[in-house]
Amino acid sequence: MTHLLTNIGQLVTNDPERDGLLGLVEDAAVVLEDGRIAWVGAAADAPAADSRTDAGGTAILPGYVDSHTHLVFGGDRAAEFEARMEGRPYSAGGIRSTVSATRDATDAGLRARLAGFVAELQSQGTTTMETKSGYGLSVADEQRLVRLAAEVTPEVTFLGAHVVPAEFADRADEYVDLVTGPMLDACAPFARWIDVFCETGAFTVDQSRRVLEAGAARGLGIRVHANQLGAGDGVRLAVAIGAASVDHCTYLSDDDVAVLAASDTVCTLLPGVEFSTRQPYPDARRLIDAGVTVALASDCNPGSSFTSSMAFCIAVAVRDMGMTPAEAVWAATAGGAAALRRADVGRIVPGARADLLQLRAPLIVHLAYRPGVPLVNRVWKDGALIAV
Ligand code: NIG
Ligand code: FE
Repeated sequence: MTHLLTNIGQLVTNDPERDGLLGLVEDAAVVLEDGRIAWVGAAADAPAADSRTDAGGTAILPGYVDSHTHLVFGGDRAAEFEARMEGRPYSAGGIRSTVSATRDATDAGLRARLAGFVAELQSQGTTTMETKSGYGLSVADEQRLVRLAAEVTPEVTFLGAHVVPAEFADRADEYVDLVTGPMLDACAPFARWIDVFCETGAFTVDQSRRVLEAGAARGLGIRVHANQLGAGDGVRLAVAIGAASVDHCTYLSDDDVAVLAASDTVCTLLPGVEFSTRQPYPDARRLIDAGVTVALASDCNPGSSFTSSMAFCIAVAVRDMGMTPAEAVWAATAGGAAALRRADVGRIVPGARADLLQLRAPLIVHLAYRPGVPLVNRVWKDGALIAV
């Protein structure tokens, strides 16, 4: 069965074969077939199809690829957010309070909450999401989190090295032994990626390297949380070890930027974190001008960034991080796909997954021009309408 989307005012293809960063097509049409994109071009040239949707001159872009979330957890940290807005700083230690609430939660409770978040993300246009463990921090609890995550996405990241749990206080190296040994054994079958929080208050560069090397030896791809709370060697470690993505990157030296620019490692910026922690925004312009591949993601988590809205991230990145609207839209779609090393999502080209977002607006610039306004019209995932 084929389905024709026609009368598309502005189509973002992200097709490198077409002109401009976004490969825009005006007065466009797309044909979907068996969950994939079958044809893309001018509406006037569109082939016949079994059924059709008239987009009424609105804009269509690839569904967002949110390459960094933490969605399996118990409780929330609203009080911590309120205290921050009164002047308290963010610190990695807050993670431990979510660990307690997560350990206390039942599988059924975590699964229901996760399903709610998945629906929340999808209704806002996200069609591919990565999600991490990291609030269990024992062998059994981390395994339960990756197992639950694997029920909703193939992009599961094992983040046993999120922070040193209270019961290992002053024994961080012993905790790393656990993470790289029995915990990795228990979690690797459910995960595609390994990640570590390489930061003061979490794991040192040496500890982080041990974790990442152990994961890589088990066939997991590498992602890293680094340079969020201050300068450090995390970004350089991520690049040296061949990470697909290094995330946060709030504090970067010129050397970090040069090393990223010369690498295949995507730099994933998380505007919700700086918004919610009142830290300075990273300078995306500096990164893009240096030739770094930049992605945008929500980092949806109860501590540092409790937003699941990629549109919000786009608006902040344009307003406060020096990105053009086109660069921010690319970073939230094709950029996220690059950060997950996925060629089948993040672009509307023949053969890609039929994951599309139709806006209630004629131009994608409205995503930044109309911040906070719900502009989602329809969302398709694998060719099926999942939100209207
Ligand atoms: O990506 N930075 C480390 N981990 C999360 C925050 C987790 C939390 O505060 O609960 C992040 O920001
Ligand atoms: Fe994170």
